[in-house]
Amino acid sequence: MLQTEREEWHLLQAHAKSMSREHLFDLFNQSNKRSEALSFRNNDLFIDFSKQRISEETLQLLVDLANASQLQQKIEALFQGESVNRFEQRPALHMALRSPEEARLELNGIDIIGQIHEQLSRMDKLVSQLHSAQWRGHTGRPIRNLVHIGVGGSDLGPLMTNRALCDLKPPTEHDLSVHFVSSMDGSQLSLLLKELEPSETLFVIASKSFSTIDTMANADTALHWLRNGLGAEDRKILQHHFIGISANPEKMTQFGIAADNQLMFWEWVGGRYSLWSCIGFPIAARIGMDNFRQLLAGAHCMDEHFRTTPFLENIPVLLALIGIWNVNFLDIHAHAILPYDGRLASLPAYLEQLEMESNGKHTTIEEHEVSYSTCPIIWGDIGPNAQHAFYQLLHQGTERVMCDFIAPARRYHCEQSGNDELKVQHTLALSNCLAQSRVLAFGDNILKTENQVPAYKRYHGNQPSTTILLDELCPFSLGQLIALYEHKVFVQSVIWNINPFDQWGVELGKVMANETYQALTQSTDRPMMDQSTEAILREIQALQES
Ligand code: F6P
Repeated sequence: MLQTEREEWHLLQAHAKSMSREHLFDLFNQSNKRSEALSFRNNDLFIDFSKQRISEETLQLLVDLANASQLQQKIEALFQGESVNRFEQRPALHMALRSPEEARLELNGIDIIGQIHEQLSRMDKLVSQLHSAQWRGHTGRPIRNLVHIGVGGSDLGPLMTNRALCDLKPPTEHDLSVHFVSSMDGSQLSLLLKELEPSETLFVIASKSFSTIDTMANADTALHWLRNGLGAEDRKILQHHFIGISANPEKMTQFGIAADNQLMFWEWVGGRYSLWSCIGFPIAARIGMDNFRQLLAGAHCMDEHFRTTPFLENIPVLLALIGIWNVNFLDIHAHAILPYDGRLASLPAYLEQLEMESNGKHTTIEEHEVSYSTCPIIWGDIGPNAQHAFYQLLHQGTERVMCDFIAPARRYHCEQSGNDELKVQHTLALSNCLAQSRVLAFGDNILKTENQVPAYKRYHGNQPSTTILLDELCPFSLGQLIALYEHKVFVQSVIWNINPFDQWGVELGKVMANETYQALTQSTDRPMMDQSTEAILREIQALQES
């Protein structure tokens, strides 16, 4: 049955008609128990939905829609390893990556928990070698720089996590820096290579397919740089200066990565869900394996909550359903991610891939065109910086936007005295976070003045937001937070009846880029492009020849 034909969908549409006339200011005035009823805690994470334009009835109607869409059965199918990635005929078992060693899960008769923990142990061993300065480069010098080369899911997760946990002291006295390189044009790599010493540099090539052109082009440049810098034969360079992480061991071998330097993951781990696998190697290299395991434990805690909690108290389910409410019933199609902590600067980019690559789809599982909106436009920035940039539109623009405010309650509390200024800065950030969500919700209703305000100074408010408070930002709470969003994406995909685990939309661009590469590099016998592209090509060629 089409989602829009369900009775539950129609009831939500009717309910939205009355709710869209309500202002958040009035909803709060109607009950002093609103925030109590609409906020929830799971371990280190507290979430407040009360500034969303919902009532308890809205939640019940949304849960009815989820039940009609067989959400519980679909969650079970996901966790059981059924082929939920329908068009690629495979499961999506990223949750297994954070399951404890004693858990049991077989896929086609293979104990995958055993395989996962075997790879984690191999990763642990490599990380210890780096931390104890036992991993030596070709000339015998210890490795001091690890350069992680990957793109998309093979980059954004580890990069975001390392930035988020940058306050943690590495569990080693040995000086080891971790760098990230992703850009296809070589701009990050060329700058970095100027600073690094080849004999002390290890490249980690992270790619599920081990054939993504962006990553392989950077890997080739790195190999070339080492050849020039070390003057050694390729076999030696590859043995001492390259680690590969992939689901494609043949391709790693073809590139020349030594068998002992290959870390594996599996086709049933989507790229954007892979930071929990050996793709997390640079995380463990930076924060240590114990902390990496805490990150996994936090995510596992959210998995258990997601799998076992009734929907009306289930945080990922509610986060997802409220998103559906905003997009499909209140007609809000923009979503801002606003962390009030500079360490979470890369979270918006990470969530952009997670949500938009997963749910940016226009066909249902049954291969019909959808007749409703799916994933909204997601973007964001560090909240306090964004206040001085795009918040004007949130406050007084004409677009409706839903916002997620994210902040840790505690910071700098373990630091030695003398850091009082930093504690003040944290309090400042928190007060701005709370102030912004208030102004967005209530507009100038919260002004204490009786005076008439001119139109250009008026704030209508009624912009919905969710506030997510972490007790503090640590591996466990970050694991919870990321898994929360992963499950949110899954729940929304169930309601929209789309496959969140493939990304065919990016494939055509890759094919076309190959063709255009030929057009740029071959003067004869080359494919012809459209008029506009041909004109731009002529400009490029003229400039390059001048
Ligand atoms: O092009 C999109 C994509 O396939 C993403 O889904 C993925 O995270 C990224 O490219 C990198 O892919 P790989 O890990 O295979 O290099």
